[in-house]
Amino acid sequence: METSVEQILSNYNDRALLSQASTIPAPWYVDSRIAELERLNVFSKTWQLVARTSQLQNPGDFITTRLAGEPIVVVRGADGTLRAFFNVCRHHAAAVVTQPCGQAQILQCPYHGWKYGLDGSLKGMPEFDGVENFDRAQHGLMHIRVETWECFVFVNLDPHAKPLAEFLGGLVKRVAPLGISKLHFFDRRTYHIHCNWKVFVDNYLDGGYHVPHLHKGLSSVLDYKQYTIENEDRYCLQSSPMVESNEDAATGATRKGDRAWYFWQYPNLMINCYEGYMDTNLVLPLDVDHCRVIFDFYFGDVSEARREYNQNSVAVGARVQDEDLGICEDVQRGLKSRAYGAGRLSARREAGEHLFHRLLAADLKQGLAHSAAAAD
Ligand code: FES
Ligand SMILES: [Fe+2]
Repeated sequence: METSVEQILSNYNDRALLSQASTIPAPWYVDSRIAELERLNVFSKTWQLVARTSQLQNPGDFITTRLAGEPIVVVRGADGTLRAFFNVCRHHAAAVVTQPCGQAQILQCPYHGWKYGLDGSLKGMPEFDGVENFDRAQHGLMHIRVETWECFVFVNLDPHAKPLAEFLGGLVKRVAPLGISKLHFFDRRTYHIHCNWKVFVDNYLDGGYHVPHLHKGLSSVLDYKQYTIENEDRYCLQSSPMVESNEDAATGATRKGDRAWYFWQYPNLMINCYEGYMDTNLVLPLDVDHCRVIFDFYFGDVSEARREYNQNSVAVGARVQDEDLGICEDVQRGLKSRAYGAGRLSARREAGEHLFHRLLAADLKQGLAHSAAAAD
């Protein structure tokens, strides 16, 4: 008989101390019912990064994306207000805005030409005379919560979610001194990885455990023994003093400063900072077995004179990423093996994973309890 979702969830003990804890069990990474539970209770209820504020600066600026399977459009109104909507026409459900980003004064559906204002209100419907009991005011685009923090735009599909600042919690004051909003976007790399999204997050949160083994170049600029791991609210900060290195010229030249700062915010956002440098990693589940990871690179100076330096810096990041990618795909294969159930955690290194697994378990168990209550 197939194991029930309740059973799969209850096989993880979220009360164990780090020194006694195991990872979430393998079925959490390979069972599509868990992926669906995550879609509804994690990605549909948490604040999710969807854009940079610089993309939505002027009235009419818009971006489109998908979140938890939902088409979304975010647009700066003529009144300067930032708004987000389901990008679904109220006529017959076509996507109203079809470009990934741009500028518009009116949002016109390409199917039958319905027009919406930048505030989402329905402005016009061709050939709709004679239609009875039609209240135009009730047929605007459906609103989604949108808020900004630093240089980032977030949306939340849950109308009852707490405000973004409350969700981010202690992360806000921890990131503030780094001045990340002064940096400028430079480049994006997108990776499709044959692994569950949590495998990528786990790999990120192992407290540098894999760095000396997998990332020899990066390892040469970090003082690995001094690596610290701090958990608070829904974020984990992994940080390390930097050391001078001649071992790996490209890494040494492009990863500078006193410290490396690696922030993870539950569930799927990472913010990595060195002096004059930031990259963000957004991990998006595609299905139970695949994820997309979007790397955005930012620099203090994006002038033409710095282009080559910045490109080299992106290449160093891409090399580290390639090293991680192979291991993540290996792990996904291993998680399907009959030989594996769950693994223990290093008390010195893997506190971040412990936080991640407990936050996730809480959301999934609560989500399952709600859907059971709704079915009663
Ligand atoms: S579906 Fe948009 S106008 Fe018909
Ligand atoms: Fe890595």
